[in-house]
Amino acid sequence: MNEILHQLRCIGCGARIAGAEARQDFRCVVCGELFDVEYPGWSERGGQNRPNAGGLKWVWRERRSSREELDCSGVWRFRELLPILEDFSNAVSLREGNTPLYHMTRAAMALRIDLLFAKHQGLNPTGSFKDTGMTAAMSVAKERGFAWVACASTGNTSAAMAAYAARAGLRSLVLIPEGKIAWGKLSQAMDYGAVTCQLKADFDGCLRLLSEIVKEAPIYLLNSVNPYRLEGQKTPAFEIAEAFDWSAPDHLIVPGGNLGNSSAMGKGFREMYELGLVAKMPRISVIQAAGANPLVRSFRDHQAASLEPVVADTRATAIRIGNPASWRKAVRAIQETGGWCLDVTEAEIAIAKAEIGAEGLGCEPASAVTLAGLKKLRAEGKVASGETVVLMLTGHTLKDADYTINFHRGKLLAKDETEGREAEIAGLRRDAVAVEATPAAVLDALKGSTR
Ligand code: F0G
Repeated sequence: MNEILHQLRCIGCGARIAGAEARQDFRCVVCGELFDVEYPGWSERGGQNRPNAGGLKWVWRERRSSREELDCSGVWRFRELLPILEDFSNAVSLREGNTPLYHMTRAAMALRIDLLFAKHQGLNPTGSFKDTGMTAAMSVAKERGFAWVACASTGNTSAAMAAYAARAGLRSLVLIPEGKIAWGKLSQAMDYGAVTCQLKADFDGCLRLLSEIVKEAPIYLLNSVNPYRLEGQKTPAFEIAEAFDWSAPDHLIVPGGNLGNSSAMGKGFREMYELGLVAKMPRISVIQAAGANPLVRSFRDHQAASLEPVVADTRATAIRIGNPASWRKAVRAIQETGGWCLDVTEAEIAIAKAEIGAEGLGCEPASAVTLAGLKKLRAEGKVASGETVVLMLTGHTLKDADYTINFHRGKLLAKDETEGREAEIAGLRRDAVAVEATPAAVLDALKGSTR
């Protein structure tokens, strides 16, 4: 590995180790905390080998017209800022990244915000933001000669891992909570050839078990405790800054589950700021589901100094996580940027998801917490109308079609969850109607349509 360029630093005690020295579970031997990848030559302002900001912008722009496989990846196009491989020809890529940044005109108008955008990470090859992290960490697994890789997952990580493992020619093991992941995601793990074990445990239990397993067998752990995952997942920050002509938006809103993504986006913007690629960092706010809100509680009850696990429950199964591994890194991203951490109800998530769908974008339930959270932040006066806001949409709408169909059929939410919002929900529902096969009957069906 390229130890000169990169090393691992413990976020708890500050211990520094070479990349290949990390324990199988990626926990520090001294204090048990997680590691950040750091680049000693340039990570600090004034470092000796800092890449030149103007040069980077030029090279990255040039690569957009290149046909080289690495250049076509929205992750490896920025490889100067993730020198984690000895040899970049080991990169395992599915042309991830390069996702669109959509203007959300309707939501912007409803919220009276001038500039609201969605960075749609659900348009990655396996349909979620996990691909950007998986290309990075899977490449490390391949370069280090592992035959097996594994993850615990609420579904998207397993889909991404199974696909990238298949591309790399590696075998993959998936641990998932039985009955608690969306079918679309489970079908992907099967399709890409993973060994998939459904456990009578929640996500947190699956991850705990896997951390034990990797200590006993030469299996490379690919959950976001693996710091190389976050190196890939920081690259959407580069894409966003590039789309805004190398300025940062005022506010970035990210869903929070295991809290790897918010941590990674924080790292991406921090590094750009330190290297002089952008002049400021955006506020980073993290939104959780009310039934899976350990970080919200940590801020509310413990000033984010400690976190008590909760028993998580939400229909947004992707973020049904009670003991998030990367919570300290996420706290850092929120605090250093002046962001907020809040939670939203099941009804708020369902409404926001339908509104994102009605913009022609669509996303999975966990992604919709971002819009639901923005509404709250706006109502509390924490986001001004002149601010530029970006929502991270983390997964594709087809990942969890059951959720969408149940919402539109009026079968998703219980009565007590919708109290006071019945009219709002009725205005968004679009159930499929059974109609006679005649022009008159179909034209008649249009009459009932309100939008
Ligand atoms: N959105 C989606 C669609 C997800 O799949 C996840 C996490 C998140 C948001 C939360 O991101 O964990 O980095 O805070 N899914 C993981 C998985 C846990 O196993 O697929 P996070």
